Amino acid sequence: MKIRFLTAIMGILMGAAVSAQDISKYQYPHHVNISWETEPSTSQSVNWRTNELQKVSFVEYTEATASPFFEKDVKRIEAESENFEGGDDAVWNYHSANITGLKPNTLYSYRVGNGNFWSEWAEFRTATGTNEPFTFLYHGDVQRFILSKGSRAIRQSIIQSPEAKFMLFGGDMVHRGGLNKENWNEFFQTGEWIYQNYPIIGTPGNHEHLIARSGENLSEHWGLNFRFPQNGPEGHKEETFYVDYNNIRVISLNLCRYKYPEDREVILKWTEERLKEFKGDWVFITHHYAMDASARNRTPGIRFPDFKELYEKYEVPIVLTGHEHLYARGRMDDKFPVYVVSVSGPWQNAIQFGDWIERAGTSLQLFQEIEVSPTELHYVSKTITGEIYDELTIRKDKKGKLVYEPGKNLPPESLIPPEDFEDRYKKELVDSWESDLKTYLNKKK
Ligand SMILES: [Fe+2]
Ligand SMILES: [Fe+2]
Repeated sequence: MKIRFLTAIMGILMGAAVSAQDISKYQYPHHVNISWETEPSTSQSVNWRTNELQKVSFVEYTEATASPFFEKDVKRIEAESENFEGGDDAVWNYHSANITGLKPNTLYSYRVGNGNFWSEWAEFRTATGTNEPFTFLYHGDVQRFILSKGSRAIRQSIIQSPEAKFMLFGGDMVHRGGLNKENWNEFFQTGEWIYQNYPIIGTPGNHEHLIARSGENLSEHWGLNFRFPQNGPEGHKEETFYVDYNNIRVISLNLCRYKYPEDREVILKWTEERLKEFKGDWVFITHHYAMDASARNRTPGIRFPDFKELYEKYEVPIVLTGHEHLYARGRMDDKFPVYVVSVSGPWQNAIQFGDWIERAGTSLQLFQEIEVSPTELHYVSKTITGEIYDELTIRKDKKGKLVYEPGKNLPPESLIPPEDFEDRYKKELVDSWESDLKTYLNKKK
């Protein structure tokens, strides 16, 4: 009896200790990430989360010094904070701030928090605002088993390309965009300090929407987790937007809204204006749904014919997409754009070999390194084990016309279907795979 009583008391005490620890742990800022709301050479946006006890939160920043005695020079901005009760794990305060008035090409140190609860100091460098060569990273769907295996792609991309200026995500960063558990909590744990030091740009996938099947109702978590530009059409802000980083323009389009004629028209018109006005060197368009459905269990076909026409008219060099959970790269009815479909996470589909595909890959975790100079765009797809899987160069000739150069000495294509191919796909799709593969490989001879 005595023992049982003591055990009960100990249990209560231990329970209290754990929960006090948790309270203090989550009062510290976490899910910290940086991005841009405004000009990358003079500003940096920061986003983070705390528990409810941190009602007011700040970002502190200063030019970085090797000396650790820099506190006297620190400037402070109070965050915009939002209490969010709709989470599946707890009630959180989400905080964000846009640091402006920064000097170009300058390393800054910053931290976020308040009182006794601060993040570590981390660094970011503002864009130079000039056109010297630089690299950025692209990730297709991370989505499932994010921490267990998606993390390999995110971490390896930074290990292999530490000089990258930012990470671009093509949507389906998580599987259930309205949930923290197993979703955003894993996504942020996967990146941790990487997202504190390397800016993120993301375009929403259907899985960041509350109805993932049809890509409807963008989850509130999108706006709570990230602080992206507000330069999109009215009602589409932070989902359709652009970032001008030095001499390139990255355009994110939320084409999950394509099915609504009014939205489609607004996004199309806005995109054309952004393409027409751009005077820099390279435009990259990213949207989650691929131009053609290449997953073997989907109906093939051009999803966005009017956007395809627009990309061809303005000679967009590369369109970066995802959703198919496989790798496919090729051009369709014109010299440009090059369409890229990629996948970063472990969830994989079998492929249907569309006529447009010049290089394909399945059962692979990949990411892309894209290097630009004023006259050259070098695209590399890498496996998470560091091999070059695909490569191409787009050059500008003397008249500024784009010239396509394929990569050389690429390894054989990995076209193995996923492990559960026969269970997940209809029999006819499994049975026809072998002969479709043969036709695809013969066509290349
Ligand atoms: Fe998707
Ligand atoms: Fe996906």
